[in-house]
Amino acid sequence: MEKKFKRTTVTSALPYANGPVHIGHLAGVYVPADIYVRYLRLKKEDVLFIGGSDEHGVPITILAKKEGVSPQDVVDRYHNLIKKSFEEFGISFDVYSRTTSPTHHKLASDFFRTLYDKGEFIERTSEQYYDEEAKTFLADRYITGECPHCHAEGAYGDQCEKCGTSLSPTELINPKSAISGSKPVMRETKHWYLPLDKHEGWLRKWILEEHKEWRPNVYGQCKSWLEMGLQPRAVSRDLDWGIPVPVEEAEGKVLYVWFDAPIGYISNTKELCDAHPEKGNWEMWWKDPETRLIHFIGKDNIVFHCIVFPAMLKAEGSYILPDNVPSNEFLNLEGNKISTSRNWAVWLHEYLTDFPGKQDVLRYVLTANAPETKDNDFTWKDFQARNNNELVAVYGNFVNRALVLTQKYFDGKVPASGELMDYDKETLKEFADVKGEVEKLLDVFKFRDAQKEAMNLARIGNKYLADTEPWKLAKTDMGRVATILNISLQLVANLAIAFEPFLPFSSKKLRHMLNMSSFDWNQLGRTDLLPEGHPLNKAELLFEKIEDDTIQAQVDKLLATKKANEAAQYKANPIKPVIALEEFEKLDIRVGTVLECENVPKMKKLLKFKIADGLENRTIVSGIAQHYKPEELVGKQVLFIANLAPRQFKNGLVSEGMILSAENFDGTLAVTSLLKEVKPGSEVK
Ligand code: MF3
Ligand code: ZN
Repeated sequence: MEKKFKRTTVTSALPYANGPVHIGHLAGVYVPADIYVRYLRLKKEDVLFIGGSDEHGVPITILAKKEGVSPQDVVDRYHNLIKKSFEEFGISFDVYSRTTSPTHHKLASDFFRTLYDKGEFIERTSEQYYDEEAKTFLADRYITGECPHCHAEGAYGDQCEKCGTSLSPTELINPKSAISGSKPVMRETKHWYLPLDKHEGWLRKWILEEHKEWRPNVYGQCKSWLEMGLQPRAVSRDLDWGIPVPVEEAEGKVLYVWFDAPIGYISNTKELCDAHPEKGNWEMWWKDPETRLIHFIGKDNIVFHCIVFPAMLKAEGSYILPDNVPSNEFLNLEGNKISTSRNWAVWLHEYLTDFPGKQDVLRYVLTANAPETKDNDFTWKDFQARNNNELVAVYGNFVNRALVLTQKYFDGKVPASGELMDYDKETLKEFADVKGEVEKLLDVFKFRDAQKEAMNLARIGNKYLADTEPWKLAKTDMGRVATILNISLQLVANLAIAFEPFLPFSSKKLRHMLNMSSFDWNQLGRTDLLPEGHPLNKAELLFEKIEDDTIQAQVDKLLATKKANEAAQYKANPIKPVIALEEFEKLDIRVGTVLECENVPKMKKLLKFKIADGLENRTIVSGIAQHYKPEELVGKQVLFIANLAPRQFKNGLVSEGMILSAENFDGTLAVTSLLKEVKPGSEVK
């Protein structure tokens, strides 16, 4: 960093409050942001970590409508759930607020008004679909119709989910309002636009020349946007959920969600600083050129944070611009894209029920596998392997051996170090470098590599103990054992510091075991962290092995989801060729009452029925034993074909007819029955 900053404002994308958060959110945004702020705090730098929920936008209103509740109910529910998940995973926000807060409504509204008064917007009138019955303009998602490409019904005004094509509402064939079902009409509406084209010049210079250090994925996306040429962007919408546009003639219009949401970073800072004056004035965190602003986001947010929001800030005139926008690519789950609507995700609140106390394991795996440069895949097998082979076998094992041996030979007190041998010196030298290495990586947002470096410390320790074998020396040379354990314990103390940003829960536990009151980043690399005679607390296991069946249970859960999704996509078979009525009339379908029903020995699939048919009763054999227990059917009325030629089974059984069942898409069978009881033998016509 060439420029010396006094403080850092760190923001992390505000998640939409229309669903719980999952591992993709954590890996993409919140864990890296949290590592970074914990690191800065350990270095005693001034930093604020800003978070909150994004509570406006059309999808929230759609969900509310679907559930028959208000949008406020929806965001209340998810805001609280999301907030709790973040707390539980140790995401150490200084503030986690929401865009429905009064502070935000006022600040965002004032922000718009400032730009409006400065003449920073242009006004445009366009034609948009309007629902005359519901008396409302229709957001793209609220219009459905036939896809002009694949001709599927039910395509949305912004996209056809069948063929994936992006659409505009006017392209839909036979458009229909999703609110009233009526045919929408075109009506004129006025909106305010941020003329990004006017900002293109300085944006080009600022990003392409002055921020070549941004991650290649971020820089590259900005470059291609700029090369395509920027267009004015609407910042208002016709919608009844959001922040009203603070202009007289804007009845029924609200700020576009992507206009108000990033201002939420500012509002949430204000809310924090107003309540805690010791944090300073909120404006200092947003307007002082000596403040550094960092946005942590996912890749679908790049254009908003690198182009649109900076243009808004610049247009306002008194704000600083982001110094960096570390954006991750996407995390997939077991080879498929994470999807909230298809429930293809590992939800954080569910993870904690299944793996209580194992927050750090997930944090570790998500960082080890972070999609920093390309999309990455989360698999349960990898999760297990990293836990068992790295956290347990390397980190946990080293810590445990050092502490248990100290307990055993030195009554749990840090022994005095004697004269160092060459190998000791080499080991010490190796870990003296770690601080510099980890810093160098964290400063440029390479969290994966930084964590690997920290783990390397544990590897050094493990190897040191394995090579020196103090448990063997104990019989002959206690002085030497003391030196080795002293060095090992210093290393363990270093591990507690180095891992604090990554695995805060484990570091806390470790600090307690080491009886270390506090530490800071500058102590990293030192070999005198634990003085001679310092008493340690009892050793506990930092990590525990995860067994195969635990992992299998998670894999099974996903398989069940996959099945359910396939089921939801099921489409009925095509209809068979048309037949004449006479053909149908040849079939004699009758109602029968089940008098007896039993399994057939050695024939696993068959049930044998005695059916009352109003004549002489008959025996029917049916292949439904895997779907019904015999006793479930006794006394029930069923439909059967009475004039089917008798069929003989291998064991001599003869079936006089066929009971009708419906075959479900997944192969399960459901016996047909009647809505009302009738006399056995009644004909079905
Ligand atoms: N809610 C958006 C998303 O999940 C992110 C908003 S970030 C903010 O993609 F800057 F607008 F707050
Ligand atoms: Zn289509």
